[in-house]
Amino acid sequence: MSAEALQFRRFRRLRRSENLRRLIRETRLSIEDFIYPLFVVHGHGVRREVNSMPGVYQLSVDQLGREAEELLELGIVAVLLFGIPARKDELASEAYDPDGIVQRAVRELKRVAPELVVITDVCNCEYTSHGHCGIVRDGHILNDATLELLARTAVSHAEAGADMVAPSDMMDGRVRAIRRALDQAGFSEIPILSYAAKYASAFYGPFREAAESAPAFGDRRSHQMDPGNRREALREIATDLEEGADAIIVKPALAYLDVVSAARERFDVPIAAYNVSGEYAMVKAAARNGWIDEQRVVVEILTGIRRAGAQMIITYHAKDVARWLREGQISMAPARALAE
Ligand code: PBG
Repeated sequence: MSAEALQFRRFRRLRRSENLRRLIRETRLSIEDFIYPLFVVHGHGVRREVNSMPGVYQLSVDQLGREAEELLELGIVAVLLFGIPARKDELASEAYDPDGIVQRAVRELKRVAPELVVITDVCNCEYTSHGHCGIVRDGHILNDATLELLARTAVSHAEAGADMVAPSDMMDGRVRAIRRALDQAGFSEIPILSYAAKYASAFYGPFREAAESAPAFGDRRSHQMDPGNRREALREIATDLEEGADAIIVKPALAYLDVVSAARERFDVPIAAYNVSGEYAMVKAAARNGWIDEQRVVVEILTGIRRAGAQMIITYHAKDVARWLREGQISMAPARALAE
């Protein structure tokens, strides 16, 4: 080869065919890395689509059998449960009621699909009359008094059969309080997936419609993190791990991929990124207008989240991706169920 030809590198050599590109691909998506959020409501026969989240439904407990069957068939192995209570009050009573909506949903899911990993979101905001994440006095959320409610909620989820609890409230000390309470109640084997770095984000807008949890006054900036902070996220994560978290979540995902990446470098624990409601809604809206290619955008977004270092992705796109995969419209690492 002439000296002249060696003066630049030919990266394109390895991009010449689809199979060659596949062979050298560094980051692969696998359907088994996805956690699918479910919103559960009281009532019977309820399957109500969330306005700002096309394809996402509020489901009543009787619908969960069908849903679980569909998820497992698609190769999705884990769900994250949110509940919409019958009644909201100042003390978030239904959050830790043994017969509350999430507790009933967990029992039903474990009955119909024991192999499905059932993770529960532990927070008070869906259950309080004011929509805040804890006990409010004089317009402020009381941190330490709230811990007790969170711990009770986590234990009640474990009693119902949850495989893992995911505290999302961002109160200080909640992981320690929940770990202690779980251990004392005999649930030392139930892991905690902590929303360790959760930002005060406008991207949660559609979720608050889905979970009926918008705060009646004020916002969540007194406890969720300021979007400008990365180093603080690492301190939050380190603290949650010291307190006993088994795995952590960075949330939202897309505007915080640097945080995912920094966390991946620093900590040797499983990391999840939450591809939140607003991120989903934007993709769906643009796709509906014909402005973007939904499939390609979704695969690119999820690949980006994995490449940043998240091994688990909590995403509302999970079912769509699994279907495209099954129909051969996209290719990914094969899911266990599909490979069998
Ligand atoms: C709190 C909680 C929220 C989300 C997950 N857990 C909302 C909030 O903090 O206001 C948001 C998830 C999403 O936007 O998809 N229970």
